[in-house]
Amino acid sequence: MPADAFVAKLNEQIGHEFAAHQQYVACAVHYDGETLPQLARFFYAQALEERDHAMMMVQYLLDADADAEVVIPGVAAPQVAFSDVVAPVALALEQERRVSEQINELAATAREERDFTSEQFMQWFIKEQVEEVATMSDLLRVVERSRDDPMEIEQYLAREHPAGEGGDPTAPQPAGG
Ligand SMILES: [Fe+2]
Ligand SMILES: [Fe+2]
Repeated sequence: MPADAFVAKLNEQIGHEFAAHQQYVACAVHYDGETLPQLARFFYAQALEERDHAMMMVQYLLDADADAEVVIPGVAAPQVAFSDVVAPVALALEQERRVSEQINELAATAREERDFTSEQFMQWFIKEQVEEVATMSDLLRVVERSRDDPMEIEQYLAREHPAGEGGDPTAPQPAGG
């Protein structure tokens, strides 16, 4: 049975992941409106990943114990207006860094509580955050360099992050997935 302190924090994290989903949809819609289809596609895909993260956490609580309460929270409205092509990516990198801290905090709580099953559950998310921060820092460098020539950014994404990439067989199962 997962530790109460861990369950409480994981429920909070479900909210953060759903908020990240909403924020990435907002970024995607912004780029779609600017007719930057690769940037839009990239953020629509990132949004789905965040939704999956939330649903993996939901599934963990459902599996872990019948007594573990699952809370599906409301989320604060995302930022929808952006000053330029760089701003959504800068916001995304900030968000991913914050989530990395939250994920590390969750693993630390599990360890403090000697809840080693939950600590192990968090390992995939730790690895995932390293990748997401790296992907977003690379993209920020590209958009900053090519802010006056967004077609360069579009080509970079088409080349480095083509449609349909992903699918990690080691990922936890999302609820309903
Ligand atoms: Fe996430
Ligand atoms: Fe993320």
